[in-house]
Amino acid sequence: MYKIDEIRNKILCGDALSELKKIPDESVDMILTDPPYGISSEVKITRGRNKMKFKGPDIILKFGEWDIFENLENQMEWTFRWIDECVRILKKGRIFATWFDRDKINFISHYLQKKYQFKTKGYFAHLKSNPVPQARKVKWMNAWEIIGLWQKPGGKLVYNYQLGQQERLYDCTNSRRKRKARSSHPKARKNYRSFHFLLDE
Ligand SMILES: C[S@@+](CC[C@H](N)C(=O)[O-])C[C@H]1O[C@@H](n2cnc3c(N)ncnc32)[C@H](O)[C@@H]1O
Repeated sequence: MYKIDEIRNKILCGDALSELKKIPDESVDMILTDPPYGISSEVKITRGRNKMKFKGPDIILKFGEWDIFENLENQMEWTFRWIDECVRILKKGRIFATWFDRDKINFISHYLQKKYQFKTKGYFAHLKSNPVPQARKVKWMNAWEIIGLWQKPGGKLVYNYQLGQQERLYDCTNSRRKRKARSSHPKARKNYRSFHFLLDE
C-alpha cells in the first residue's frame, strides 16, 4: 500500500486497477477520469468513392486494443471494478467525475446511486475540437462528449464559488482554429481547469 504523501503530485504508470488497489481508503480529494469506454469500431469508413458520401480521407474508428470489449456485460463489469476502487479511495463528500459513452453513462449513475448512495451533481458537455466527420449524409457529427459528476455521501461538498460562475461546458474547440498546434489526442491539450473549483477549500 502506498502512503498518500509519497504519491502526491506523481504519475503512477501501470494498470489502473492494480495501482488503485495500492491507494489508501478515503485519501483522495477528487476522481477525474477518462477511461476506455468502448467507442472504437473495427469499421473503416471509406469516403469520396461514392456520390452519396462526403469527400475526404477514409476514417478509422479503432482507437486501440484497450478500447475493445467483448460485449456490454464485459465492459460494464470491468468498469464497475475500477469504480469500486475509486469509491473506496475517495474522501467523503468529494466528487467522482468521468467521461463515458453518453448512451451508457446512466449505468454508472445508477450503480453509484444504488450501491453507494452517491448524489448526482450534473453532467458537463465537452465540445470536441476534431469530431469524427460523417461519411454518409444521414446524421450529425458527434461534436461533444459527456462527463458525469457524482458526490460521495457523508461529507461536505467542496465548491469554490470565488473562482466565478462555472458553466457546465468543457470547450476544447479553440484548437479548431490552430490545427497545426493540435495534439494527437483531442483531450490532451486541456488542463482540466474547469474542475479546479471542486478542489479548493
Ligand atoms: C479515452 S483515453 C484517455 C486519454 C486522455 N484523456 C488523454 O488526454 O490522453 C483512455 C486511456 O486509458 C488507457 N488505459 C486503457 N486501459 C487501461 C488500464 N487498464 N489501466 C490504465 N490505463 C488504461 C489507454 O491507454 C488510454 O490512454
